Amino acid sequence: MEVTKVDKGSKAVRQAASRRDFLALSTAALLGGRTTLPSMAGVRAEQMKDETPRRDLAADPQRPRYHLMPPANWMNDPNGPIFWKGQYHMFYQHNPNGAFPENMHWGHAVSPDLVHWKHLPIALAPTPGGPDKDGCWSGCAVDDRGVPTIVYTGVFPQVQCIARSDDGMMTWRKHPGNPVIAAPPQGMETTGFRDPCVWREAGEWFLAIGSGIKGQGGMVLLYRSKDLIHWDYLHLLCKGRKDELLSGKDSVSTGEMWECPDFFPLADKHALIVSTQGAVIYSVGAYANRYFRPGAQGRADLGGCYYAARSVADEKGRRILWGWIREGRSDAAQRAAGWAGVMSLPRVLTLGHNGALGMAPAPEIEALRGKHQRFESLPIVPGSFSLLKSVRGDSLEIQAEFQPGACEAAGLTVRSAPDGKEQTSITYSRTSGQLLVERERSSLSLDVDRTSQGGPFTLAEDETLKLRVFLDASVIEIFANDRACLTSRVYPSRSGSLGLGLFARGDKALLKALDVWEMRPISPDRLTT
Ligand code: FRU
Repeated sequence: MEVTKVDKGSKAVRQAASRRDFLALSTAALLGGRTTLPSMAGVRAEQMKDETPRRDLAADPQRPRYHLMPPANWMNDPNGPIFWKGQYHMFYQHNPNGAFPENMHWGHAVSPDLVHWKHLPIALAPTPGGPDKDGCWSGCAVDDRGVPTIVYTGVFPQVQCIARSDDGMMTWRKHPGNPVIAAPPQGMETTGFRDPCVWREAGEWFLAIGSGIKGQGGMVLLYRSKDLIHWDYLHLLCKGRKDELLSGKDSVSTGEMWECPDFFPLADKHALIVSTQGAVIYSVGAYANRYFRPGAQGRADLGGCYYAARSVADEKGRRILWGWIREGRSDAAQRAAGWAGVMSLPRVLTLGHNGALGMAPAPEIEALRGKHQRFESLPIVPGSFSLLKSVRGDSLEIQAEFQPGACEAAGLTVRSAPDGKEQTSITYSRTSGQLLVERERSSLSLDVDRTSQGGPFTLAEDETLKLRVFLDASVIEIFANDRACLTSRVYPSRSGSLGLGLFARGDKALLKALDVWEMRPISPDRLTT
């Protein structure tokens, strides 16, 4: 069994240990008279056992109000988003037994509008003795001539399985012949073999799967099938080189294992998104003769809190992407909170400038806008600490346009205490060509990650800085000029850390316009039911 090594901290270690722990936990669960572990499929979300009372979850100030998340407990990767009969279905890696990454199930939610979500019964649970006995890991969902079909990874060892639904996705039956792919191609010593992405092309099914070779690099293997059951390995769809860095000024390595490949057409090109156990990187390039040749590359998100992104095409022909927003606090804090992990807002992908990936929040989110305030033409003088008196909140959409002039850096201060002792800066550094979230003072609590996050971002000579920022309790999602995203987490300890301010460093800057909306919650109880 391989051990995923970086990035997920305790999650990686837990996955490596999960077979052993699963057995121990099962015994403990039986001794304790609990029957929740072996199978949760078909159990309604509200019947699930968890330790934290719902009223505590619903009142938790760190728990978002307008992002999708499970009713309680752990989530990681988005799985199998599918547009089906006019609705968006989203699945996700989920542990219904606690806020820690073990014993993965597929949670399930549905939305008519990409914004308001309803929890549905858990779709997949490990089957004792089956090829997914130690977890139903990530994968995709496709429409097989009218039958919704999930293609996912069972562990351990990592094998590929399918499950189908005959009742509009309320229940799922696993294929009796699972696994449908029992091992990586012969002779390949892979670092992993998981997270299938399936599409239909020229009357056949194709499956891209995340993998890599130690000492060489990450790779995506390509398979072909007529029926989703019998698969032939073709070749590598694409491969990276260990220690290879992304193009441009980025210093992110493409790693040795590519998780969660997402491969899809985008305008007249194709895009491949992979998660490298460190970052989510994309390539927009050419797909011909069943090989993908990468072109423009970049990070789908410049923060360290966004991972395992997956997309779907909807009826409007848009390509919509979600990622898992990880926590930035200790395992103990996550368990105590009774929930961990959040789904990002949906992003609409386009072919951007210079062949790069364009990313913007789905316009549907604007339906949540409430009270609005607008400010125009405010000069920002370096050195002064000023908060906008009339604006406060941790559930806001902020749109700001800056003329950076000759400043070294400029941006917004969010989640600020009145005395500034807690505050987070969203910073465009003109001198270093970076977009950053500076979190050193984001919380007085020592238990949370307060390191800065960010990456390369530059403006053209005549370009203004256009930020769209979504604050939702501990979540911050930033879109800059429709081409860079940065997702982060902050956990201010004071209830009054709700201020919004502006700053410039080195020289003055100009705020051309600022719009702020209070965002309405998507449920009365922070999606706990
Ligand atoms: C990515 C990942 C996937 C795997 C899943 C397990 O975060 O490691 O590769 O299928 O999580 O939960």
